[in-house]
Amino acid sequence: MHQDIARIMYTEQEIKDRVQALGKMITRDYQGKAPVLASVLRGSYIFMADLSRAIELPVSIDFMAVSSYGSGTVSSGQVEIKKDLSDSIEGKDLIVVEDILDSGNTLYYLMDVLKVRKPASIRICTLLDKPGRRQKPIRADYVGFVIPDAFIVGYGLDYDEKYRNLPYIGLLKPEIYDQAK
Ligand code: IMP
Ligand code: MG
Repeated sequence: MHQDIARIMYTEQEIKDRVQALGKMITRDYQGKAPVLASVLRGSYIFMADLSRAIELPVSIDFMAVSSYGSGTVSSGQVEIKKDLSDSIEGKDLIVVEDILDSGNTLYYLMDVLKVRKPASIRICTLLDKPGRRQKPIRADYVGFVIPDAFIVGYGLDYDEKYRNLPYIGLLKPEIYDQAK
């Protein structure tokens, strides 16, 4: 795995520090509340685990899965719910936890679907944000790192279902995905 990485973008320690900071912000902003953390599988599974432990509030967690990239590196713009949340979010303070906000297609669609269910409030927390690639007008309320347009893997993020278990976030060597074209 490691030999396919061109450069480490964020080390394990840098990610840890930033996730702790995000947890502190959420803890401060939601005092007296019990927000629901809803994570979009599969890319955010590690972020969700670490973020939830950095929040000192009685949170609950839920998961949903949507289709996005298939095995390519460019979003299709078509989104489909593969697995829905298990519980109702009506009247709840919802925080959608995402690994990365790229074109915005996934979250733009998802926000529409979730708002209809009448949560008391809804915010987005994303570990990574690539604003340069945005196709839909959507912004996150909590952002870990703003990154340039590059394909990255690790800490939950995959290429073709691989590299999710890398403990850092790295730039994938372009020849890895160029080979697949
Ligand atoms: P969007 O709909 O284009 O915003 O795409 C969001 C999803 O695309 C994320 O949840 C990721 O699963 C995937 N994605 C976008 N950029 C990257 C990347 O650089 N590496 C790995 N997955 C990515
Ligand atoms: Mg993915």
